[in-house]
Amino acid sequence: MKVTVVGAGNVGATVANVLAHKDIVNEVVLLDLKGDMARGKALDSWQQAPIDYYSTMLTGTEDYKDTAGSDIVVITAGIPRKPGMSRDDLISTNAKIVTSVVDSILQHSDNPIIIIVSNPLDVMTYAAHASSKMDKTRVFGMAGILDTARYRAFLATALKVSPKDIQALLLGGHGDTMVPLPRYTTVAGIPVTELLDMETIDAIVERTKKGGGELVKLMGTSAWYAPGAAAAQMVEAIVKNENRIFPCCVKLDGEYGQKDVYLGVPVKLNRNGIGEIIEIDLNDDEKALLADSSAHVKKVMDTFDGMNL
Ligand code: NAI
Ligand code: 2OP
Repeated sequence: MKVTVVGAGNVGATVANVLAHKDIVNEVVLLDLKGDMARGKALDSWQQAPIDYYSTMLTGTEDYKDTAGSDIVVITAGIPRKPGMSRDDLISTNAKIVTSVVDSILQHSDNPIIIIVSNPLDVMTYAAHASSKMDKTRVFGMAGILDTARYRAFLATALKVSPKDIQALLLGGHGDTMVPLPRYTTVAGIPVTELLDMETIDAIVERTKKGGGELVKLMGTSAWYAPGAAAAQMVEAIVKNENRIFPCCVKLDGEYGQKDVYLGVPVKLNRNGIGEIIEIDLNDDEKALLADSSAHVKKVMDTFDGMNL
């Protein structure tokens, strides 16, 4: 199996490094406009192999010919936000980058599975899917695993338990309108609502929604360890044909009452990409929050349409 990661910045280099540690693919190609940066980071990760015991070969390049025959492509190319910016502020730069990356990739790989990471995530998934003209089961976005991980980490801190024992679900766009679902959150099988009062849960939900911004404020750029690990986990589920259930951003065609919009929903991930979109029952409040998130994403999709790329 061959995986290409486009963008050798903070997130892309982390995806490549985490993936190499999993030792589940033969080859990872790291591609960036800055070819030497990609070559350097790939070489550094390869030199870690004898220490951490993996065989995955990593190479860096700026030439799409080196990505030929990729089974899976992770796109992290683009600019990250700076303090004071929203993810949506990135659209004019990143839409052009993402669509041109997809075109270049498809000149050398036939029908790869493409995972989008660049922001604004939901709309970049739309841009990539539209320009690829591929089936929606093969072009989708990473955000829900990250946002759910943030939610789970905050809950683990509040409960003083291992984050391993927290199972949770989150729907909607990758932005402040995301919809964490306390009703579908358990701690070793115990509903979280039995362990924490609603005031504490609500505060954690609010912190989760702004979790990306909290890190931008601290670091002056956006996060990479958890985002990189989240994208690598999606690759792992595909490579191992695991049928894992993760929230991923995908085009909805009526599921959850939403049509022609790209939103995070629980899906089964396997060797074909998205094997199935899983629909769960939502109460009226949750439906209203999802509709609000959908309306927000649609507005940014309209901005993308107006760019006429
Ligand atoms: P970064 O600035 O560290 O890396 C981006 C890399 O993309 C740079 O090395 C740059 O040279 C490269 N690049 C730019 N245009 C390119 C092109 N046309 N072809 C190839 N490479 C190109 O940024 P970072 O922190 O890695 O973030 C990358 C993107 O991922 C940002 O848009 C960020 O907002 C997004 N992000 C999304 C997350 C999610 O949950 N979906 C989480 C974290 C970041
Ligand atoms: C995050 O949530 C910036 O989308 C990125 O960290």
